[in-house]
Parts: sequence; structure tokens; C-alpha cells
Amino acid sequence: MELVSFEVNGKPLEIAVEKNWTLLKVLREQLDLTGAKPGCETGDCGACKVLLDGKAVNSCTTNIMKVQGRSVITIEGLSKGTELHPIQSSFIEAGAVQCGYCTPGMIITAKSLLDENPHPTEQEIRDSLDNNLCRCTGYVKIVDAIQLAAKKMEES
Ligand code: FES
Ligand code: FES
Repeated sequence: MELVSFEVNGKPLEIAVEKNWTLLKVLREQLDLTGAKPGCETGDCGACKVLLDGKAVNSCTTNIMKVQGRSVITIEGLSKGTELHPIQSSFIEAGAVQCGYCTPGMIITAKSLLDENPHPTEQEIRDSLDNNLCRCTGYVKIVDAIQLAAKKMEES
């Protein structure tokens, strides 16, 4: 085992890991943060996305040793207590959540996009989702949700 130190949702921690573990495995199995979902586990579906130093990454293909000294935000870290992040509430209001399996990854992607580009065009939103698969919604409501979130974040 190796020791690795990093921050998760603002809290510093140090844990013992095997060198070949993924960030997704550590989050779900060691830290009990199960918001990031295992889907394809090959980097193709985006269900496992988290923010790594503010950028959306697939945690299933991120080796845990690469996380040393860095900051991870998971879907659990976006809300403040019971108060949802505007992106989370927008997904609900726009009807963008059906089975919900893709939703944490979609919201993490949207957070990364809106932090970098607060006023994305519809095409820029669609382009940002090219590594996030949804089997339920047809994406229209997800795009609507991200547009609504951009508006709410601008007004807040
Ligand atoms: Fe990570 Fe699909 S589970 S990209
Ligand atoms: Fe079911 Fe997206 S809501 S996969």
C-alpha cells in the first residue's frame, strides 16, 4: 500500500491505497462517496465524472496516484447542506433527470463548463457533453437545464 494525500470536497485527507486503484474506486469504496457512478469504466460514458482541480475528469480512468496533492470535488460537494447548487436545482426544474444515472456526471461537466464559460451557446453546451452519455432524455432537457443554470448563476 502507498499513502496518498489530497483534498475531497474541501477536506484534506491521507489514505492508504494500492498503486493501481482508480479515483472512482477510492471515492466509492474507501470514502463512501457514491455520487460518481460506475458506468463503462473505460472513459466513454462520463457517469463517473468529478472535478479535479476544477476540471471535469473521468474518475474511472484517473489513477489514484495522480491525485496526490490535488483537489477533488464530487457531486456531494456541490450542495451546501440541504441547499442545492443552482445547476442541481436547474436539472430538476427542467425535467432533465429521468433514471438519474448520468445526472451526477452531467452536472459535474456543466459546473466545469460554466466556471470556464458562464455564457455558453447551445452548441458549446452540446460540445461539452460529448463525453457524457444519457440513455433516457435525448439531451434536449439537459441542454435546457444548463442554460437555466447559467441564467441563475448570472443572477445570483
Ligand atoms: Fe467512467 Fe464511464 S464509468 S467514463
Ligand atoms: Fe437516465 Fe440520463 S437520465 S441515463
